[in-house]
Order: sequence, then C-alpha cells, then structure tokens
Amino acid sequence: MAHEVVLIPGDGIGPEITCAMRRVVDATGAAISWRVEPAGAAQVERCGTPLPPETLDAVRSVGVAIKGPVTTPVGTGFRSVNVALRQAFDLYACVRPCRSLPGDGSRYRDIDLVIVRENTEDLYAGIEFEAGDPAVDELARLVERAGAKGFRPGSAISIKPISEEGSRRIVTHAFEYARACGRHKVTAVHKANIMKATDGLFLRVAREVAGSYPDIAFEDKIVDACCMGLVTDPAAFDVLVLPNLYGDIVSDLCAGLVGGLGMAPGANIGDGCAVFEATHGSAPDIAGKDIANPTAEILSAAMMLDHLGEYEAAARIRAAVGSVLAAGEQVTADVRRAQTGSATGAVGTRAFADAVISHLG
Ligand code: NAI
Repeated sequence: MAHEVVLIPGDGIGPEITCAMRRVVDATGAAISWRVEPAGAAQVERCGTPLPPETLDAVRSVGVAIKGPVTTPVGTGFRSVNVALRQAFDLYACVRPCRSLPGDGSRYRDIDLVIVRENTEDLYAGIEFEAGDPAVDELARLVERAGAKGFRPGSAISIKPISEEGSRRIVTHAFEYARACGRHKVTAVHKANIMKATDGLFLRVAREVAGSYPDIAFEDKIVDACCMGLVTDPAAFDVLVLPNLYGDIVSDLCAGLVGGLGMAPGANIGDGCAVFEATHGSAPDIAGKDIANPTAEILSAAMMLDHLGEYEAAARIRAAVGSVLAAGEQVTADVRRAQTGSATGAVGTRAFADAVISHLG
C-alpha cells in the first residue's frame, strides 16, 4: 500500500524545489500518495491565516509531511508558519545532518556533523511584547518585586522559556540518535556563562542525561567558541545538541561548511508526527527563476523515505545526488559559483532533477 504524505509546496522557491523533489521520489518507484496542501502568505487573503485548518488537519491525520519553505514577514505581520507547525504537532527535535559530498562546492572536505535543535521553546516560543504594551510595565514591576535588575522604560520584551522537560527530551533524542547511528560524541551548546537560569538549566540537564550514555562521549561548548571551533576544526565535532535559537544559527553555519543552504536537509520530529524540510528559507531573491538548488529538499525526502522504511529508495536518491555533484557537469548556479567563481554553465532546478533521476540506479 502507498504511503500517504502531505506535501506543502510553500512559497518563494518552495513550489520549484518541491516539484523537483517529488519527481525524483516518484522516479524511485517508492509508493507515495501525495496529498498537496497549501500554506503561506497567499492563504491569508483566502482564509485569514497562512496555515489553513485543512492543512493542519491533513498533517494531523497523515502524520508525515514534507514542505517547501514559507516566507515570514520580518518585524511585523503574521507569525512563522514553520514555527506554528512545529508547535502544533510538538515536533520537538529538528535533525539536520551536514555531510560533505564531493563536488558540493565547499572549501571544506569530509564534514560529517549532525545538528539536533530543540524546536519548541526558547526565544521561538512567541511570547513577545511590543514596546508600549501595558504588559511590559507589569513585567517591569514583577522584575522589580523579584529583586532583579530592571530594564529601560519603553523596552520591547521577548521571553526565553527553557524547561527541564524540553531540555531532557531533546538531549535524550540527541544521545539516542548518536547511539542508533554509531556516532561517538554529543556536544551540548549553550551560553550558560551569561544565561545562568535558562541555558544553565539546559546544560545541567544535558550533563545528567549524558551520565546515562557512558558509550557516547560528551562535552559542552559555549556557543560563540563553538562557532569558531566549527570553522577552524569541524572534525572535532560529531552530534551537536542546541536550544532553538542557537540551533537555527549554527545550522546555517554548518550548511556553509557543506556547500551552502542549497545542500542542507532536515527533519522536524515529534512523537506522532514528522515534517521534513530543507534548512533554507524561501529565497525570494531567486524565486520563480528555475535556478534554486533542490538538493536540500531532495535529501530531506531521502530522510523522509528512511522514516517510512523505504531505505532502498532513500539510498538510491543519496547515491544519485552524490554522482551528479561529483560529475560536476549538471550543477545549479550556487554550486557552480562556489566551484568556479561564476555561474556560467550551471543548469536549472528542473534540469538538475532530471540529472538526478537519470543517475538513479
Ligand atoms: P534563505 O535561506 O531563504 O536565503 C538565504 C540565501 O541563500 C539567499 O541568497 C538565497 O538565494 C540562498 N538560498 C537559499 N536556499 C537556496 C537554494 N535552495 N538554492 C540556492 N540558493 C539558496 O533566507 P532568508 O533570505 O533569510 O529568508 C527568506 C524567507 O524565508 C524569510 O521570510 C524567512 O522567514 C523564511 N524562512 C523560512 C524557513 C522555512 O520555511 N523553513 C526557514 C528559514 C527562513
């Protein structure tokens, strides 16, 4: 029987890269029944929300989805569809492998890292108060009563909740992943020297959880030093587990180590639901031009196929992507530019997908 999967094309480059991804998956012969559902700014006019209830219902009933990126207005406007989906289905673990592929255009070789990002808490919780909101004055009084140092009048406030439960389950996920995948070390990344309450809690729990996994090495790193270490000696890292915001930032850094955002896949995993998507956003600067690199989305589909037990199809996709990149003749503009300094001779999104399909063993 076919596996039902919800496909959310998203916006920006989303429709182009998800179309490429779907063609590649279908070409493997894996039995997938796609249920296409919308999300994004265009839905606001139609039904008053960027994440329509029927899309949420579909993801809830099917339990597996793959999505393209969705644009989030900066500073004002509706809240992120991506964050809303992660919170709605408690997709607490964002798993983003970053592996070098020959021909990926990166100046680094042999990168093999996995980011495990907490997906539901931290400054992404969406608990925010605009400057001038009376709630800010109330908060100021509360802070004063608690005897803590106050904040300037007129401040805007974003709240950073980090819980023991949230920290325990993400660190446990990182260790279980490390054990299942034969990884040797987990690094907990934090800023507990400054945020002693929130990041301090995350670190304390990480150390406790690490005690239950004597077979896996554990270390912790302050996020700024970790970033420096990742660019100077990436081989010193293996699995990294991070609270939400650091996880977001360090994911893009690690994507840069393997050729850029067009190369970095990901999965958002909860207990009863999984949503697969590339690390990158909707790339409005290149949308609709057939030049986006669909590799990250195609590799996200390979992660999805593994999740569905379609291991052979997943392996064939990874091998085909690897062959096309290694051959170096049919690569998208981002990769060609990284390799040669110019996009001359690059192929488009569709042609890249054609090349991957023709290399499927
Ligand atoms: P972005 O990741 O969309 O783009 C950053 C840079 O990388 C741009 O120059 C873009 O052209 C390039 N790029 C990204 N993906 C590429 C690909 N597949 N092939 C070739 N080049 C690629 O980040 P940006 O510009 O900060 O965000 C744009 C929008 O995407 C924002 O509204 C943001 O909120 C949203 N976003 C959505 C995400 C999601 O849906 N999961 C994740 C991150 C951002």
